[in-house]
Amino acid sequence: MSALAHSQVETAATARDAFVRALQFRFACKLFDESRKIAPADLAYILEAGRLSPSSLGLEPWRFIVVQEAKLRRRLRPSCWNQVQVTTASAVIVILALRAELDPEADYPRRMLSRLLPAGADFDETMKIYRGIAHERRISWSVAQCHIAAANMMTAAAMIGIDTCPMGGFEPEPVADILGIDRHKYVIALIVAAGYRAQPQPPRQRLPLSDIVTYR
Ligand SMILES: Cc1cc2nc3c(=O)[nH]c(=O)nc-3n(C[C@H](O)[C@H](O)[C@H](O)COP(=O)(O)O)c2cc1C
Repeated sequence: MSALAHSQVETAATARDAFVRALQFRFACKLFDESRKIAPADLAYILEAGRLSPSSLGLEPWRFIVVQEAKLRRRLRPSCWNQVQVTTASAVIVILALRAELDPEADYPRRMLSRLLPAGADFDETMKIYRGIAHERRISWSVAQCHIAAANMMTAAAMIGIDTCPMGGFEPEPVADILGIDRHKYVIALIVAAGYRAQPQPPRQRLPLSDIVTYR
């Protein structure tokens, strides 16, 4: 093996180890150390992992609200099943899935889809396919993609030693009211609390691969 090929193999092995370590580091952290705040550059790194996530048709159907203000997080907590993560975290990232703007008659799908198509492609044909998707299906599909962005942000956080907790336990109506979110325009897909753990990581509970994978 040449010296270059050898160093590429080593680099790949190092990246692989770092990635697996991050996956093992991450857990759904319930209690954060309130005295530790995430540095703005680290928060930007985490959000960038969300921004770079894949989305169907390149629609990027997510918007992120980063709630750092302690007072606002205290107001949110009762609507988040009173979960302690909300007030102990350094930030909670509220992930909004687009709803109204996914309407084929809105400007947004047209603008985003046109970026994907090569010059000369039949844009009307693409819009026809898009129109054929039921609106409710477009919305649940938008929410599913927000979960991909959330997963990437949580792994990115773990890569730099930041803990997270994905939270589906919240009441959408009061959360939207507190944050001034227009529920006609957005669905609250998920909330991700982020900060530094104030508790040890519990043992990982996972089914073995043999229970969840079949090869054909
Ligand atoms: C979509 C989603 C919603 C979740 N909602 C909550 C939640 O509201 N509160 C909570 O403490 N954990 C929540 N979790 C975390 C899971 O309970 C946790 O990931 C699972 O038990 C596995 O544990 P681990 O992530 O620590 O390995 C959620 C996870 C996902 C993926």
